[in-house]
Amino acid sequence: MIRLRSRSEEETARIAGALGEKLLPGDTVLLYGELGAGKSVFARGCARALGVKNEMASPSFTLLQSYEGERYKVNHFDLYRLGSADELYYSGLEEHIGENAVSLIEWPQQADVCPGKRIEVDIERAGEGDNARRIELNFFLPEGREEDIIQALGRFETE
Ligand SMILES: Nc1ncnc2c1ncn2[C@@H]1O[C@H](COP(=O)(O)OP(=O)(O)OP(=O)(O)O)[C@@H](O)[C@H]1O
Ligand SMILES: [Mg+2]
Repeated sequence: MIRLRSRSEEETARIAGALGEKLLPGDTVLLYGELGAGKSVFARGCARALGVKNEMASPSFTLLQSYEGERYKVNHFDLYRLGSADELYYSGLEEHIGENAVSLIEWPQQADVCPGKRIEVDIERAGEGDNARRIELNFFLPEGREEDIIQALGRFETE
């Protein structure tokens, strides 16, 4: 686990980028936090680092947008408006979270998703003005990868 402090949208994107560089196909990033916390900013930062060049739209109305990264496919889910389990099924979530793509999921608590290889990211306002955020990352990854990622995040300010 690591808890970081971000003071701007750009800094959140850089933190996400440092994580994104370490992501492998089969990994899922679960993004928690209230409306406007910065989940989409974080998802875009990860996707950029994975080589996604397209402008990333908000997938709210389609639940899923898929992009081609430099090496892997990148799926961006926003489950905020998810209505039912049926809808989840039709969104293709289960079949898209898989070994050959990196998945980034906003509002994962709307569904019962708990992929094996995952990073849980919790973004909270930190109470010092509009732009301060506390970003907690919890890793559920094979042996050694947490240490590697935490090292890559070492240049950022910790809480
Ligand atoms: N430190 C920060 N990190 C991230 N975003 C920040 C920060 N400071 C201010 N912001 C602003 O907060 C907003 C975050 O918006 P974003 O769409 O990423 O939120 P979200 O968590 O995805 O919300 P939603 O639940 O609606 O999808 C942006 O307007 C961004 O400019
Ligand atoms: Mg969002």
